[in-house]
This record gives sequence, structure tokens and C-alpha cells, in this order.
Amino acid sequence: MTTNRKLLEGKTAIVTGGASGIGAAVAQQLADNGASVVIADVADNGEEFATKIRTAGGRALFVRTDVSRSAEIGKTVETLQREFGGLDILVNCAGIFPRANLLNTDEQLWDRIMNVNLKGVYLCCKAVVPLMKERGGGSIVNIGSNHAAAGSAELFAYSVSKGGLLTLTRNLARALATYNIRVNCVNPGWVATEGEVALRESEGRSREWLEEQGRRSLLGRLQTGEDLAAAVLFLVMPQAGQINGQIFSVDGGASAR
Ligand SMILES: NC(=O)c1ccc[n+]([C@@H]2O[C@H](COP(=O)([O-])OP(=O)(O)OC[C@H]3O[C@@H](n4cnc5c(N)ncnc54)[C@H](O)[C@@H]3O)[C@@H](O)[C@H]2O)c1
Repeated sequence: MTTNRKLLEGKTAIVTGGASGIGAAVAQQLADNGASVVIADVADNGEEFATKIRTAGGRALFVRTDVSRSAEIGKTVETLQREFGGLDILVNCAGIFPRANLLNTDEQLWDRIMNVNLKGVYLCCKAVVPLMKERGGGSIVNIGSNHAAAGSAELFAYSVSKGGLLTLTRNLARALATYNIRVNCVNPGWVATEGEVALRESEGRSREWLEEQGRRSLLGRLQTGEDLAAAVLFLVMPQAGQINGQIFSVDGGASAR
């Protein structure tokens, strides 16, 4: 998609998990298109990334935010109000994906995954809806997973959390339509993000191994953060104003079975 700086001029956005991987690509894409972006993340490099966007002429602010804590989200929303004056777009990208099957999942791990991947999205949506109502509408995009539908044995709690996210998306799409707030979900296929590379390395797999998996896939490569960011950009544009409650897979066709 060609970059048009005017596309989101005057719009403001929060991107959770925006300091790394898919979230960083989304934050960059929104900023490149003229939006003022709050990067809400727990990662230390968030400030550096926001500075990089500002240095290139964009508008971005890093606000350290743990999405599983409502008090921190409240402060982030206050900062956004003060600095940018309102909110049009929320992209819920913060997520963790530790590998564990049912028997390897203790209560603590279950709670941690649910708190970030599902409760975090609920808390963020709840915190921003009043601001979007004030603006006369808004767009929320959740980053889900193809594992949401049928689950995955080795990603037990993770896939259940993404299943919940699917229901949350459809639920809120209907409930918030009356405020002109649209809610959609984008499912990545396989992206060699910082998080994914670290996970694979912990399993003894190299970056080259990941690239080889991409070469064996339908379209011959893994997806990139930019592939995902293009879909998010489309969904938040006014031209997508009648798209609501939908689940899009950006996976090179892997789920088309
Ligand atoms: N990479 C893939 O192949 C893939 C596939 C399917 C779905 N996804 C989903 O995409 C999203 C992004 O994944 P990624 O691969 O870019 O991962 P990543 O690890 O590279 O980035 C995730 C970001 O979320 C942040 N984060 C983690 N916990 C947080 C918290 N409590 N509060 C705020 N921020 C927090 C991290 O600091 C990090 O910056 C996740 O929701 C993930 O489930 C990724």
C-alpha cells in the first residue's frame, strides 16, 4: 500500500505491544500515515522507538503500560488525552505466547497468559470507549491467532485466550456499533518477530530454520510485521467504515482449508 501521509491526519491511536514485532510495524505504519501514536508497552526500547518515529517527523509517544493492570491503562489514557486530546484508534497487539500443553500449564502460567492476552484487551477496550464515544466513533483492531478456532495442544492457554479474543471481537462489534465504534480482528500467520525468534531460539531453532519454514509455505515466505500493518491500516481507514466484527487472516493462505 502506498504511503499517503494524509490518510490518518488528525487521528490518534494507541498501539499496545507497539515496541516490538507486529505492534511496532503497526505503530510505524499509523505514524507514517499521519496519526499521532501512543506506544503502550512494557518493553524498555519503547522510548527509543518513539524517539525514532519523532525524529523522522512523525508523532509518537511511549507510555510504559502493562495492559493487565487497569491503573496503568488509566494513566496511559490520561496521558493520551493530555498530549493528543482524544482517541480514534486502538490496536490491541500486546501478547505473550509461551509454549505449554495442558499438563505443563500451571495456574500461574494460565493466569499470566489470560491476563495479558485477554483481560488486557478487555481493560483497554473499556478504558477507551468513552473517548471514542466523545469523538463520535472509532476503530478497534485486535491481533488474534489462527489457533483461536480449534486450539493447539502445545499452545493450550494461549489458543484459549485467542479464542476468547475472537468472541470479544464479535461481542463488542455488535455492542459498540451504536456508537459508531467498529471492532475487527487480524490473525497473523507466522511472523519472525523478536518474540517469535526468541521463542524458537529457546527451542534450539535458528532464524534460518524459520526462513526455511517460510520457503515451504504456500506463498514461499513467512509474513512480516508490515504485511499485518497493511491490513490494520485498511481496517482503521474511514473507507472500511462498513467492516465490523470480522476476522481477517494475513497468513499467505495457510488457513484456507
Ligand atoms: N509472531 C507470530 O507469528 C504471531 C502469530 C500469531 C499471533 N501473533 C500475535 O501477535 C501479537 C504480537 O506478537 P509478536 O510476534 O509481535 O510478539 P513480540 O514479542 O515481538 O511483541 C509483543 C510485544 O508485546 C509486549 N507486551 C508483552 N506483555 C505486555 C504487557 N503485559 N503489557 C504491554 N505490552 C506487553 C512486549 O513487550 C512486546 O513489545 C501477539 O498478540 C501474538 O499473540 C503473533
